[in-house]
Amino acid sequence: LVVVIDFGAQYAQLIARRVREARVFSEIMPHTATVEQVMAKRPKAIILSGGPQSVYAPGAPQVDAGLFEAGVPAFGICYGFQAMASALGGDVARTGLSEFGRTKARVEVPGTLLQGLPDELAVWMSHGDSVEAAPPGFAALAGTAGAPIAAFEDTDRGLAGVQWHPEVLHSQAGQKVLEHFLFDLAGCRPDWTPASIVDDSVAAIRAQVGDKQVVCGLSGGVDSAVAAALVQRAVGDQLTCVFVDHGLLRAGEAEQVERDYVEATGVDLVVVDVADQFLDALAGVTDPETKRKIIGREFIRTFESAARGIVERAAAQGGDSGEVEFLVQGTLYPDVVESGGGEGAANIKSHHNVGGLPDDLQFALVEPLRTLFKDEVRAVGLELGLPPEIVWRQPFPGPGLGIRIIGEVTRDRLEILRAADAVARVELTAAGLDRDVWQFPVVLLADVRSVGVQGDGRTYGHPVVLRPVSSEDAMTADWSRLPYEVLETISTRITNEVREVNRVVLDITSKPPGTIEWE
Ligand code: XMP
Repeated sequence: LVVVIDFGAQYAQLIARRVREARVFSEIMPHTATVEQVMAKRPKAIILSGGPQSVYAPGAPQVDAGLFEAGVPAFGICYGFQAMASALGGDVARTGLSEFGRTKARVEVPGTLLQGLPDELAVWMSHGDSVEAAPPGFAALAGTAGAPIAAFEDTDRGLAGVQWHPEVLHSQAGQKVLEHFLFDLAGCRPDWTPASIVDDSVAAIRAQVGDKQVVCGLSGGVDSAVAAALVQRAVGDQLTCVFVDHGLLRAGEAEQVERDYVEATGVDLVVVDVADQFLDALAGVTDPETKRKIIGREFIRTFESAARGIVERAAAQGGDSGEVEFLVQGTLYPDVVESGGGEGAANIKSHHNVGGLPDDLQFALVEPLRTLFKDEVRAVGLELGLPPEIVWRQPFPGPGLGIRIIGEVTRDRLEILRAADAVARVELTAAGLDRDVWQFPVVLLADVRSVGVQGDGRTYGHPVVLRPVSSEDAMTADWSRLPYEVLETISTRITNEVREVNRVVLDITSKPPGTIEWE
């Protein structure tokens, strides 16, 4: 394990991803973690991330010099580099020579960190202060116009750092620099692979669940599918999957899950039709947060009654299944990090996951994807032999179309949205763009009407919004530049085929400031 200490930059997640791309497992901890807390994780190495502040700013997060006394190799990046220098007796000064963006670094002495790299590197910088003298025991390796010492190392102690950001793709040989630290200075081994992730999670699930029964809600999305497949591998027929048809699904969804997932895994799948229950509970509700809470509550009520069904079924067959004590959730690592990463983070994401868990939850949660990014989940899915249709499926939120109808959710409105959504999905697939687009929500502005003309008549219909986005992990996103012809076909077909819709608009907002979903 490599611990990435987050000094408040957006880069910590990126660093963790790059370390994992080198096949070394990494986790992020906040800079407020104590030396004891960090060491309790028994890290093979520590990486100090960049941060927005000057080391000298009042209240700037400092590095406890004790971190370097434990004998664990450490690598400082940008702010982390300066913080390391200042904690170990080097000089950090405000030179007034800020560097932002692309900068040239001259490699003076390659050392271990920069071995085999060109003499001049195009690197990505973002700093105001600079290291002017390396701490005792360190060799200076490189410099730039604004940073006399832009890289240093102490091979004896396995300590090193760079002023630039090796984790961003604009930094030439960035991954190489990170790998030289990980493998040559810190002695890490590249043994964190999809296969090892599967083995580790299977062991952890077995230890947590024992011989108890587990339920898992399958949504048709990749996260719940991979989480369920891991649990199935771990505890086999102690797992029952429940597909909740809450009436907020897209066209053909239930059939698709039954076909793709059950065929691939042979898992025990119970499909429950609870559309009336959900839609009755949502009647008259327009507030997005209230919708989520209601949907989350009804999900749990559905799992509880499915759990009772499992026990009763076993009893009817003369057996005793024992109580169902666990519920599987497809919580991912960005959600854990986003909500603080500490204890209790599970609850925050779980809310997000199903739209709000009730306080009196009867189940303990099994969250086998808690440490993984989305692309890693996909790699694990492939490792488990899940079919590509599932592994590459675009994400779809648990609350479904319920949060894509702006306004009250009714059966009629669901039908309109389902029809428009089906057109968008079919045309995206026909254009061969499924993998280029992260997600393609279609949103019905149900309380808005605008004037149109169809044939000779005036219409007063609803707009739908197309929201195709590209993203790496849903934390940030950009609107997808779909070809005009594809947009045109979608628009023409929707307005021709869905009578109540007379206008199709395109959402061209990135995240931030927008979110991917409209509610
Ligand atoms: P936002 O709208 O916050 O969405 O940019 C980020 C990602 O999360 C999905 N999403 C949800 N998924 N339950 C889920 O399972 C939810 O309540 C929920 N809300 C948003 C969204 O589709 C996108 O992929």
